[in-house]
Amino acid sequence: MLHEDFYSRYYPAVASSQANASYCEQLYGKNMNQHGFAEVAHLKHLLRETRLGPGQRALDLGCGTGLITEHLAERSGAHFTGIDLEPDAIRQAKKRARGRPDLDFQVMDMAELDFPPASFNAVTAVDTLYFTPLGQTLEGLLPLLKPGGRLAVFWSQGCDPGEPLESFDRRTLPPNFTELGVELNRLGMAYRTLDYSRSDYEHAQRKLAIAESLKAEFEAEGNLFLYEDHIQEANGVIRAFEANAHARYLYLAWWL
Ligand SMILES: C[S@@+](CC[C@H](N)C(=O)[O-])C[C@H]1O[C@@H](n2cnc3c(N)ncnc32)[C@H](O)[C@@H]1O
Repeated sequence: MLHEDFYSRYYPAVASSQANASYCEQLYGKNMNQHGFAEVAHLKHLLRETRLGPGQRALDLGCGTGLITEHLAERSGAHFTGIDLEPDAIRQAKKRARGRPDLDFQVMDMAELDFPPASFNAVTAVDTLYFTPLGQTLEGLLPLLKPGGRLAVFWSQGCDPGEPLESFDRRTLPPNFTELGVELNRLGMAYRTLDYSRSDYEHAQRKLAIAESLKAEFEAEGNLFLYEDHIQEANGVIRAFEANAHARYLYLAWWL
């Protein structure tokens, strides 16, 4: 399934799925309609590293239904703008954010960002930069950072589930050699990384167990595709990590 087709089905389904709400609460620590690997504790690290605070502004790329964005805004006191390509997700986000001065949501392609230069103290991307021409997107978003601003990206680098393990190039696993690291190097950005590789493996194992325990509930709701997607994602990371073909990092990047 193309990822656009997947998300146009995913976001309407999770809006009312009790099984998925329970899955997210158990796995991530809070139901935020997540479709990635970032737990609440990891978002805390992201906020600590971006040093966002009241009076500052941030942009969250690929925000889905905006619950992660809302969490980040509430925990930091900063204003957040969330963008996503999926109209139903943004419709849900806007409905919840009505009347809130700290949140703003827009349907927008992260490869064609439309904001004035130096708009944001931080740009965050939680498991979203895989779906876009990476170089073009970074070239568009980096000028949006204010002086001293930071880009924070959760990035997994590994062998995709459909790809043979033998053909995966393990030299791309260290932070400087991932697709993201290579692009940040090309653009002359300074960055440092926190390593979440093993914690991602442990997350995937919990993902598998929690999804399995909720299979009957997903099925009863007619949402078996959510269960199947969670299982496929978890198995993909487990298989790759056990073959030394998976890494995950939080990148913090800034202009020198
Ligand atoms: C893996 S999900 C991550 C969502 C959320 N950040 C999370 O961690 O749960 C990727 C998100 O990126 C969005 N997306 C994909 N391509 C995009 C693009 N070109 N511009 C904006 N959003 C995009 C998808 O609609 C989806 O909501």
